[in-house]
Amino acid sequence: MLRFETAGESHGEYLVATLAGLPAGVPVRLEAVNRELWRRQQGYGRGGRMKIESDRVEIVAGIRHSATIGSPIAILIRNRDWQNWTDALPVEDSEGLEEKRRSVTRPRPGHADLAGALKYNFHDARYILERASARETTARVAVGAIAKAFLDQFGIHVLSHVVAVGGVRMFRPVAWEELVALSHAEEILLGCVDTVIEQKMKEEVDQAYRTGDTVGGVFEVVAHGVPPGLGSHISWDSRLDGRLAQAIVSIQAVKGVEIGHAAEGAASFGSKVQDTIHYDPEQRGFTRGANRAGGLEGGMTNGQDVVVRGFLKPISTLRRPLESVDLVTREPALAAYERSDVCVVPAAGVIGESMVALVLAQAFLEKFGGDSLTETKRNFDNYLEQVRDF
Ligand SMILES: Cc1cc2nc3c(=O)[nH]c(=O)nc-3n(C[C@H](O)[C@H](O)[C@H](O)COP(=O)(O)O)c2cc1C
Repeated sequence: MLRFETAGESHGEYLVATLAGLPAGVPVRLEAVNRELWRRQQGYGRGGRMKIESDRVEIVAGIRHSATIGSPIAILIRNRDWQNWTDALPVEDSEGLEEKRRSVTRPRPGHADLAGALKYNFHDARYILERASARETTARVAVGAIAKAFLDQFGIHVLSHVVAVGGVRMFRPVAWEELVALSHAEEILLGCVDTVIEQKMKEEVDQAYRTGDTVGGVFEVVAHGVPPGLGSHISWDSRLDGRLAQAIVSIQAVKGVEIGHAAEGAASFGSKVQDTIHYDPEQRGFTRGANRAGGLEGGMTNGQDVVVRGFLKPISTLRRPLESVDLVTREPALAAYERSDVCVVPAAGVIGESMVALVLAQAFLEKFGGDSLTETKRNFDNYLEQVRDF
């Protein structure tokens, strides 16, 4: 079973991730992992923190001579900002540090601050926001990059793009090649494949900057080259659509998920929604009239591209703070302001790619197993032959 965990506070020494369950022999390039971290940091509308950090992984276990060895993989990512927080978040308390704390007693609406303070019984929400922060997703993207390296071996690739920022939306279909080109870009504005619409998206972010506001949006993750039969219809928790939905909604600020053309489908007649089935005798394979199902039917991949969208609410921290209450005095107060992003939709797309890659890699290993890449490939090839000869 492929599984990962992350640890680390937003302003702590390191972010940490472990990934266990990958077979031995998967080639991993540090440069490719760091490139994913770089992609997560990009996008017009990011705040000052991303200017401080320049994320790079230190892999300390599980990968030797540029390949996995079957043991758990352990990754560290240093927080450069830690140097400004050594007295505010020390591991060990000592005298004189009390006034160095950066307490948050005015919880920010839309954040974990209030619910977390009540749940963990802190009258200072600092520890809550340190962990609830989306800085944690840096660790997810690092392990996601390794899941991608694994899927690459089977011709499966996962990419994303931005479909909407605030009220500006792109409606046209997007070719896989456009996503590949976008993923190689050296400059990322808002991660939209259409440069005209992207400029309009930028205007939306500019307006938020001007007015001390924030904007949300929609990203789309596409997994290409996925074989039919990952996940299963047999029980609720083996359905891959549900597992992907959880993975996407687990991303901070994502409040909704759509698989394929779900919203459009709900407003249409059935005859316009399902993807017709055909057979191509020359290729000796089944083909489909469209891909409105987003590559998933009955909780299983059906061999078409997997298409999943994440809907982000606008960032909660506003330069013009919302009403709140002081946790200590119980008096009305304006919410605390922490240095903040204004728009994070492209970054959320990259995080979405990681989450989809991790879920697909997990489902892939459930089906094909293997302690070494050679063994997994042998199992996969046998299955492909079965599908071909069906
Ligand atoms: C890449 C990324 C960066 C984010 N940066 C910020 C930020 O700078 N300020 C902020 O208030 N929220 C930010 N968020 C969102 C919060 O982390 C999130 O809204 C908060 O933890 C509450 O969780 P929830 O919105 O999922 O309920 C970011 C989210 C993502 C995906």
